Amino acid sequence: MTKKFHIHTFGCQMNVHDSEKMAGIFSGKGLEETGGTDNADVIVLNTCSIREKAEQKFYSELGRLKKAKQENPNLKIAVAGCIAQQQGNTIFKRFPYVDFILGPDNIDSLESWIGDRKQSAEHRTQTTALKYNPGYHTKTLPIKREGRVRAWVSIMYGCDNFCAYCVVPYTRGRERSRPRADIYNEFELLAEQGFKEITLLGQNVNSYGKNLAEDSDFPGLLEKIHKIDGIQRIRFVTSHPRDLSGKLINAMRDLPKVCEHLHLPVQSGSDKILHLMNRGYTFEDYKKKMDSLRNNINNIAITTDIIVGFPGESDKDFELTLNALLEIEYDGIFAFKYSKRPGTKALNLPDHIDEAVKSERLSKVLQLQEAITFQKNKALIGKTMEILVEGASANDPEKLTGRTKTNKIVNFCGDEKDIGDLVKVEILEARQHSLYGETT
Ligand code: SAH
Ligand code: SF4
Ligand code: F3S
Repeated sequence: MTKKFHIHTFGCQMNVHDSEKMAGIFSGKGLEETGGTDNADVIVLNTCSIREKAEQKFYSELGRLKKAKQENPNLKIAVAGCIAQQQGNTIFKRFPYVDFILGPDNIDSLESWIGDRKQSAEHRTQTTALKYNPGYHTKTLPIKREGRVRAWVSIMYGCDNFCAYCVVPYTRGRERSRPRADIYNEFELLAEQGFKEITLLGQNVNSYGKNLAEDSDFPGLLEKIHKIDGIQRIRFVTSHPRDLSGKLINAMRDLPKVCEHLHLPVQSGSDKILHLMNRGYTFEDYKKKMDSLRNNINNIAITTDIIVGFPGESDKDFELTLNALLEIEYDGIFAFKYSKRPGTKALNLPDHIDEAVKSERLSKVLQLQEAITFQKNKALIGKTMEILVEGASANDPEKLTGRTKTNKIVNFCGDEKDIGDLVKVEILEARQHSLYGETT
């Protein structure tokens, strides 16, 4: 009987895409994807360690799998992703029923693990694949993609920024850029397969090319892949404000397929906190880049990430973050309470903030931003916008859903044959997190 696999993904887009690579490897080995843990022969938990909450979610899911393993001793359980890299084989001690632990740099190791016939219940060997894998960024892995319209493409791995709060440099290792030719080939393949929108992935895409021998920076990469016919839209995440160059702003302005949306995490409006975070810019620097973006790119949408309650954040520092939201008027934000992460510099900073104060600050930030986002959405009523149709709307299967180039979700009554096409929709109604419209 065909063996079945199930992958449970936690965390960011990078992890979602890594899971597509894992699914590609399993499918290549003749395994079939199954919707849940119940009838799976192989389960992978692809973990995230960015905040304590994400970690807890994983541990409770892994706890639940104990019973599944007791009921089916042939079940294989692998722990992948950022917690796997950080905790290593200590996971075996707490959870002896785990079979394999692999880090984000070693996804290719699943191939030999799954093909290993010695892995029967009687001869169970617990193995790990956690070593620095210097050639990983030059490998092309099979990918089983989730959608048919939009796709992810990795352009770089790791991060060298060491923001004081962040585990990523410890879990994903040093920054390495994929060779430009590999990215180009993947783009061509996706165009042939009918994909319309590509999102380039990396922790700090602006510094793409830094470690490449060939002369290729991020704007240069955009220019090159922009030429590929069939792909209609190009997006990228994430950009670091310090490395956002005038050259990139010009490329965004001049290359029509590059969407008018930038996710540019500010984290805080206080220079004191930005310095403690090791972000490498002041709020004034950030604002200058914002002005340049808005002056050069018509109607650009800007989104951001905010951390509240970083160690040492006074009421005054927090006020500066609220002011930043008022001043910049983001299209949307992700806001988080600072969470202590093992191995990071911020752990040793003085003046950690009470949980209750963090919660209060978080709700203030969210409340303020909700009003701003809603205002921005309402301002779009009456406008006709180009939507890339993705499929049926999750909340209302009678309707179709898609996004504007500015990354706003629009639901509308339309024809299923339009899935994968660009259509014009007039915006009739604004909601908190989406828009409603009709085709024109
Ligand atoms: N490389 C990207 C994304 C990093 S993780 C970037 O630099 O923007 C996504 C967001 O999680 C970060 O922008 C930050 O706002 C948040 N984050 C990271 N570590 C955190 C921590 N320890 N506590 C709370 N939020 C955190
Ligand atoms: Fe983390 Fe900073 Fe790197 Fe982003 S840039 S992944 S926040 S260390
Ligand atoms: Fe989480 Fe790792 Fe992504 S910590 S946010 S899965 S890079």
